[in-house]
Amino acid sequence: MVAAELRANPSAVLGLATGRTMEAVYKILVKMHREEKLDFSLCRTFNLDEYVGLTPDDPRSYRHYMNEQLFKHVNIDPRNTHLPNGAAKDLDAECAEYERKIKRCGAIDLQLLGIGKTGHIGFNEPLSALRSRTRVKALSPVTMEQNAALFGGSRNVPHRAITMGVGTILECSRCVMLATGASKADIIAKAVEGPITSMISATALQWHPRCTVALDEAAAGKLQATEYYRWIFANEPEWEGYR
Ligand code: GLP
Repeated sequence: MVAAELRANPSAVLGLATGRTMEAVYKILVKMHREEKLDFSLCRTFNLDEYVGLTPDDPRSYRHYMNEQLFKHVNIDPRNTHLPNGAAKDLDAECAEYERKIKRCGAIDLQLLGIGKTGHIGFNEPLSALRSRTRVKALSPVTMEQNAALFGGSRNVPHRAITMGVGTILECSRCVMLATGASKADIIAKAVEGPITSMISATALQWHPRCTVALDEAAAGKLQATEYYRWIFANEPEWEGYR
């Protein structure tokens, strides 16, 4: 989907995400750049979030992750890549400026999303307002635990992050949420089939007119209406390119 978007619209504005799930996506995009000349030269990117207190060159920052996983391996112009600066002196001004930068590019054409154990998209932790904008958010203990490995224990994980708001994310033209593995099965079932609630920000995607959820069998394991989804995947023309 990302490659199709870039080929149809070389100056696309891509919304990017971090986390282990996305590493496989970036590997494939790098491979497509090398082998099929997938062109990133005109595209613009905005990442969902960044830890507060980490400088962009900190190896634990999401800026570093993006450089390592994608940016330095493809022909993207670094000036076109955007992440919130978690080390900004005035964090509120940084958040407002991030919103303005997205607006100046028009809108995000395709937003990639992972899902955290709390059901967050970006770092929109439980009780994130469904219309929230880019802001500083305190991380929940579950999220700090989930992201502990990189910091040598959850006690060292920053307590706060800058994240696009749920409202910011919902304004993208199209979004794709990805999840893999059995550990995501419970939260995916709640996010996809449960009631919309600010306790699980991923449920807000049910409002989005053009949201695709891509799962492996394990992550899809607790969905209720699987038989219906399988029929749609096998029979609806919109899925032709992916079968
Ligand atoms: C972090 C990011 C989220 C991402 C989540 C999932 O919390 N802020 O945007 O969805 O990680 O991570 P993983 O793919 O490693 O499960």
